[in-house]
Amino acid sequence: MSGFFELGVEASDPNAGEFGRGASVRGGGCRQRCQLFRGVLSPYMEPYGKGQRGVLIVGEAPGAEEDRQGRPFVGPSGEELAKGVDWAGYDLDRDCVRTNVCRCRPPKNATPTATQLNACRWRLLEHIEEMKPRVIILLGRPAVDGLLGHRLTERMGGLTMTDWVGLQIPDQLLKAWICPLYHPAYLMRNKDDPSIRRVWREQLKIALDLCDKPVPQE
Ligand code: URA
Repeated sequence: MSGFFELGVEASDPNAGEFGRGASVRGGGCRQRCQLFRGVLSPYMEPYGKGQRGVLIVGEAPGAEEDRQGRPFVGPSGEELAKGVDWAGYDLDRDCVRTNVCRCRPPKNATPTATQLNACRWRLLEHIEEMKPRVIILLGRPAVDGLLGHRLTERMGGLTMTDWVGLQIPDQLLKAWICPLYHPAYLMRNKDDPSIRRVWREQLKIALDLCDKPVPQE
């Protein structure tokens, strides 16, 4: 897996943290570069869950219910996610921690912009640094871009979500398996096709089961 990502950490960049460029552009940068915190009930929503199996699940951004309750994935997408995790033999609250690449709810649930994702990335990287997850499940394209956008080569940047889904990437920098999957909202939009949910759950189980398998080091 050597060279899967551009490990282009700019050592000379004073803002380059352990995980690379932009990783430690802390809160000041977030509030200057992104104004979302102004219009929400739950700014900078914290990750939630005990994470006893070392699994970090990363979504896009809080929705209305999440913003109201101050907790990620407690609305319809969260219900779909919790059922999938349960189907795979795990418990969402106990075994996983869940969070979002964009911590503040965008108005009308708009997809976070590149500026918003870049401004929020340090929060996710800081959480990973503290939690040291063994598996990171990325739900949907914004989650892929939010975690990895600063590390993608031009070639990788051109991949579609279909290309990413189902990969199990032994990431040497974060020392975790990175597993991109479709967002649960995608299953809800395709309710008429039960095979989509079935395949998604199988892929979710494969990702969750990696929590017992150490990431091979190069
Ligand atoms: N969708 C997300 O991506 N995250 C949430 O927290 C809720 C819905």
